[in-house]
Amino acid sequence: MASMTSDLPYLRLGVNIDHVATIRNARGGDHPDPVRAAQLAVEAGADGITAHLREDRRHISDQDIERLKAEVERPLNLEMAMTQEMLGIALKAQPNACCLVPEKREELTTEGGLDVAKSSNRLPKFSEPLRDAGIRISLFIDPDSKQIEAAAAARADIVELHTGAYCEAVIDGEDLRARGELEKLSRAARQAGELGLEVHAGHGLTFDTVRPVAALSQVVELNIGHFLVGEAIFGGLHSTICRMRALMDNARASASGSASA
Ligand code: PXP
Repeated sequence: MASMTSDLPYLRLGVNIDHVATIRNARGGDHPDPVRAAQLAVEAGADGITAHLREDRRHISDQDIERLKAEVERPLNLEMAMTQEMLGIALKAQPNACCLVPEKREELTTEGGLDVAKSSNRLPKFSEPLRDAGIRISLFIDPDSKQIEAAAAARADIVELHTGAYCEAVIDGEDLRARGELEKLSRAARQAGELGLEVHAGHGLTFDTVRPVAALSQVVELNIGHFLVGEAIFGGLHSTICRMRALMDNARASASGSASA
């Protein structure tokens, strides 16, 4: 698909390579190597690499984080829970950004956003040392005005809006619910932009769900993982990422005429 140009800010693609590690770990050993996947993703047009080091190490390992930082020439966005262990690892690894996420052992994936409003006492213990080390602070939140206000009050650099509810509504074929969830994302992106927060979005995005999110003018980065790794089985990682990139660029270009400031 030919990509078009857009007047909106460039929309970065962060590729989350966690599930390359999930497949590797199914058998132990070294194959497939998430660092090799990250390098291939960069060749295909990824602007950054995202990895979630979970407490139970179910996919990405500590060594993967060290190698991603050392061997991949793009910014690393480290997703992590607010624990002392993760803080120590982040300070040592020095990623470009840390995306703070809620984490439950029993969940299959990050199920909801961080309750920033409720974490206001705890958050600075993690965000301040990261900020002092020059690491950007991103908070993964639901598209909710209270969470956005709390993120701005917590002096976050970035909010990453959880797109899971919107994507699920699309998959369920519930158009009205999908439109409602998209409207929440749109309002949240506007509010976050007005408060000076950089706006990212992600979770559950696919070829079928990415366009309306990519068209939101305040959103400057999408983080996409599970679909890209799964679809790569059929189309190859390079061509899957190129197609996602083209869909994002085209959505951006189509929206640029009608974008709200
Ligand atoms: N952003 C955050 C904060 C996440 O936790 C995840 C999942 O690890 C993603 C983006 C990517 O979601 P998905 O794998 O569904 O594309």
